[in-house]
Amino acid sequence: MDKIEIVGGQKLQGSIRISGAKNAALPLMACALLTAEPVVLQDVPELADIRTMQKVLEHFGMKITRNGTTMTLQADNITQFEAPYELVSTMRASFWVLGPLVGRFGQARVSMPGGCAIGVRAVDRHLYVVHQLGANIDMVGGYVECQAKDGLKGAHLSFGPGTLVTPFYDTSTFKPSVGATMNALMASVLAKGRTAIDYAAIEPEVTDLANCLVSMGAKISGIGTPHLVIEGVERLHGTTYAVISDRVEAATYAIAAAITQGQLTLTNIKAELLQNVLDVLTSAGVNIQTAQDSITVSNNIWPLKPVRVTTKEYPGFPTDDQAQLMALMTLAAGESSVTETIYENRFMHVPELARMGAHIQLKDKNTAVVKGVDHLIGAPVMASDLRASAALILAGLAAQGTTTVHRVYHLDRGYDNLVGKLQACGANIKRLPENN
Ligand code: UD1
Repeated sequence: MDKIEIVGGQKLQGSIRISGAKNAALPLMACALLTAEPVVLQDVPELADIRTMQKVLEHFGMKITRNGTTMTLQADNITQFEAPYELVSTMRASFWVLGPLVGRFGQARVSMPGGCAIGVRAVDRHLYVVHQLGANIDMVGGYVECQAKDGLKGAHLSFGPGTLVTPFYDTSTFKPSVGATMNALMASVLAKGRTAIDYAAIEPEVTDLANCLVSMGAKISGIGTPHLVIEGVERLHGTTYAVISDRVEAATYAIAAAITQGQLTLTNIKAELLQNVLDVLTSAGVNIQTAQDSITVSNNIWPLKPVRVTTKEYPGFPTDDQAQLMALMTLAAGESSVTETIYENRFMHVPELARMGAHIQLKDKNTAVVKGVDHLIGAPVMASDLRASAALILAGLAAQGTTTVHRVYHLDRGYDNLVGKLQACGANIKRLPENN
């Protein structure tokens, strides 16, 4: 296992190319299950989660080759329909194979993902999708077994609160879900007849998946809105498709520029994908300039002004950017607050930031109140989940002295070449073996 060592205090200067989005690439890889023809994905990031999804798909018999950031996937000889516990338990997004497997082959056996550090993260809305589209569901030994002998049939799906209660789901608690909307799209494109999805998630990665499916011959209308209509087709064909850029990576580097009082130009990213975050940074005093495919972030005001944010579904402030913003606010002039509404346990960076001198109090389970301090001091800290790890890196870039971030495998899950990208902009950061 490796650790990352940062000597803080360098102003970042330069340009960073934003990679393809992890959260788009993962479902796009899964959707290659829906056709026997090759699916060529461009701008696939180099990440541990992508390698995990590759293992899951290869386990089914999919052929996958990679040439730089281009990945070719072909599902012309699928012989296994089981996603094993060893793989699904390491990455929840492996559960996204359920929809395409049942959609094309009428069967799937997928391990339940289990909890993770940021909460329970149930899959009830995913089970609802395949059940409503006509699959039989069984829960055996920690696995979901789905059968649809005559294929799936179009249905009316809604991720809004409903009144349906079954052993697998209770729709009264439903809210839009990114992953379940993706599973619904992938399950319904080959189903017989029409599927309507109400209260669909409208995150850009859902839109990216829908656009890719359309390029494969799927009939989907309402893309980008909470109301999707899918007319099932008999078969899909191959495609070449470029993965949308990673808005979370972009937000993280925008905050890196701000927290080091430097200047970074982020390329290969459209500002509208992270407009809410850019607006919050602007209100804190950060200078943002946008062009068609780039964002320049500079910060000459110090300390920044405090902000209050509440995480929301897109286009609201993303839960995936909350920890990084909190790191920035530890150094603002006054009191900020961050309220988390998507996950029940997503403040694990708080005690670690406190070890670096941050003043953060949890007002209740969901709200952190951050009182800005004059400076942070480097310390050994422990990464607990992907975005919490990014927050610790950002704090380390600004802190006085050396910060050592342990358990960096969390970062490897979601940040393509983080150390290299930051080094190229002047950060004093290196990756070392843990026992060094
Ligand atoms: C995706 C992203 C993740 C992001 C999240 C919200 C991927 C691989 N991950 O996760 O980075 O933070 O969207 O933008 O794309 N829930 C249920 N039952 C379900 C499904 C979800 O209770 O069947 C709950 C979850 O526990 C969570 C909330 O709903 O509290 C939102 O989850 P969801 O939108 O499904 O997020 P993911 O797709 O898992």
